[in-house]
Amino acid sequence: MELVVASNNAGKIREYRDILEPMGFQVFSQDEKQVHIEVEETGTTFEENALLKAQAVYDRTGCCVISDDSGLSVDALNGEPGIYSARYQGLATEHERRLAILKGLEGAKNRKAKFVCCICYIDETGEHHLFTGVWPGVIADHEEGTNGFGYDPIFISEDAKGKTTASLPISFKEQYSHRAKAVRQLMDYLKQHR
Ligand code: IMP
Repeated sequence: MELVVASNNAGKIREYRDILEPMGFQVFSQDEKQVHIEVEETGTTFEENALLKAQAVYDRTGCCVISDDSGLSVDALNGEPGIYSARYQGLATEHERRLAILKGLEGAKNRKAKFVCCICYIDETGEHHLFTGVWPGVIADHEEGTNGFGYDPIFISEDAKGKTTASLPISFKEQYSHRAKAVRQLMDYLKQHR
């Protein structure tokens, strides 16, 4: 069965291909299916945005689809940057966005935060299924480490013994992260239903 990953990010496509091909799917990127659209993320939650992206691709291809949406939510910043993680405060670089979080938390006692990843799977009947992984932690008081991407240098997950995600090996993230948790839920679902 054909499945389109609603993205053109090569890393993301490869990751999903590794998971989904053993489940019997033939995996395509949006480009490979000639779907040249940039879906406007107008939802107010990760779930809504993941569904918007998946539905747009399903409507144009009629194939099974996988999409995801993820980000960092900081308690003391009223859940920001949340769904705006990739474009927080309109800042151009990941480094600037990390500094904005650190500045926003200056003097804050509560540094709790969580990464969230929502995967949307649309099956061959057009029905959608949502899988959300949450990774709780705190925001560090300075950047540390070079592994990973995005907010990894300032995020200390509750299972990381005080180290930022970016200071730990990638294998740690592959096992414990919000994305790993959502992917496990998706795989459990597919194992039961396919
Ligand atoms: P998207 O879901 O790929 O659009 O990612 C949204 C944004 O959330 C990214 O640009 C990052 O800023 C942030 N983000 C999502 N997942 C992670 C992660 O695992 N580590 C660090 N930042 C992340």
